[in-house]
Amino acid sequence: MTKKLHIKTYGCQMNVYDSGRMADVLAPLGYLPTAEPGEADMVILNTCHIREKAAEKVYSELGRIKALKAARAAEGQAMIVAVAGCVAQAEGEEILRRAPQVDIVFGPQSYHRLPDLVARAQREGGGLCDTDFPVESKFDFLPEEALVPGPAAFLSVQEGCDKFCTFCVVPYTRGAEYSRPVADVVAEARRLAAGGVVELTLLGQNVNAYHGEGPDGRSWGLGRLIRRLAEIEPLQRLRYTTSHPCDMDEELIAAHRDESKVMPYLHLPVQSGSDRILAAMNRRHGADDYRRIVDRLRRAVPGIALSSDFIVGYPGESPQDFADTIRLVTDIAFAQAYSFKYSPRPGTPAAAQAQLDEAVKAERLAMLQQLLGAQQLAFNEAAVGRRMDVLFEGHGKKSGQLVGRTPYMQSVHATVPETARRRLLGRILPVRIEQAHPNSLAGSLVTHQTASGSSAADDSGAISPDAKETANLRMTA
Ligand code: SAH
Ligand code: SF4
Ligand code: F3S
Repeated sequence: MTKKLHIKTYGCQMNVYDSGRMADVLAPLGYLPTAEPGEADMVILNTCHIREKAAEKVYSELGRIKALKAARAAEGQAMIVAVAGCVAQAEGEEILRRAPQVDIVFGPQSYHRLPDLVARAQREGGGLCDTDFPVESKFDFLPEEALVPGPAAFLSVQEGCDKFCTFCVVPYTRGAEYSRPVADVVAEARRLAAGGVVELTLLGQNVNAYHGEGPDGRSWGLGRLIRRLAEIEPLQRLRYTTSHPCDMDEELIAAHRDESKVMPYLHLPVQSGSDRILAAMNRRHGADDYRRIVDRLRRAVPGIALSSDFIVGYPGESPQDFADTIRLVTDIAFAQAYSFKYSPRPGTPAAAQAQLDEAVKAERLAMLQQLLGAQQLAFNEAAVGRRMDVLFEGHGKKSGQLVGRTPYMQSVHATVPETARRRLLGRILPVRIEQAHPNSLAGSLVTHQTASGSSAADDSGAISPDAKETANLRMTA
């Protein structure tokens, strides 16, 4: 009998990957995905604990779920409510006390036990909590059959973190660092590629600290793993996230330089430009170390797009410390970035320190975001007039649009007639960029004759006769 499963995902890409795998684990029990929580036999909230706001969202969503569960009960239908992910790991039983409508709480490392937890919840009527860090790795117990999400997929290769930055909950919610063996990763990548995936993003909280066991019995770094994955023919694009500056080794930089499938984009969080604050954060690198890493990357891959994360208003951050952050951002020129006000997290060392005024944090965040926004727009504007390969991944919000990404992670909007849309999905096609916006680009397919007389579409090797039928289609955001 089929049952319906609704999963709502918060937080980082690792949660997106985990949610997909939870669905895979529950599929043999007859659960099929639904976008409607009201019609679901089981609802899972896969949560994030990184900042206060992220964690709060869970309880307001649980309020809505409570009403839906009551409405179903009135019709004689059951709904199992589960809270997964990092809030589940951090708060455990507390969630069951605060929100008795929740039947199951389970952490990021124990979702392979879901079938057993669901059976017990049905038998015992809820109240279950599994937030162990099991000795076995969940990856050894996940099913091989997996729903392929589309042409671009995530693959977790590394989990957890041993770095203990003083502001961060991840080492507590995800546990110790663990790298999957190379053979496992290769097998999963092959399955995804066979299912039509052309772009693979390798995931880990500290993905470049990857040190999985290789087929030779020795420990392989991420650079070596990437070279191995690049041999899988149908895969055209490789990315990885998130990296720590201290683990950006020569082998990985060389993979960027030598392997054309590795995209010229890197998300490398720096958090602050002040050595004093970086030391207080236990980041184990200074601002100049970061500048040197960026220089090495830019020498290896000229034009590489850099992205980062920033925290403003960390305890003790002085105006000079903040000015150092602004100086670093000005020096590097980022293509894209995320920035946050420091949010004290229970149980982390920085939370116990004297906190800065909210107003100071807000003012600094606005200044930083203005600078980062201007850099991002400048990076996007530099694309106008260029031809870029775009992997079309899905339908845009506006009807008639397809969206895809350039090698530099910029999203590109394109308006395509209904008849051509399905044929273009999952293809990498050359697009002439015509407009730049703060968060996206717009352009049209390159299908005209070039000055040299050959078709620009031909030299990409990617465009098919089908796609050529869509010649001269106008694409706008
Ligand atoms: N593993 C990644 C980041 C994980 S969290 C890394 O090492 O960089 C993603 C981002 O959230 C962090 O880079 C940081 O900028 C931000 N972040 C983490 N804890 C935070 C906190 N307590 N307050 C505000 N931002 C935080
Ligand atoms: Fe958090 Fe630092 Fe680990 Fe990143 S490296 S997950 S910021 S503790
Ligand atoms: Fe959030 Fe956990 Fe990811 S705290 S950012 S979901 S690792």
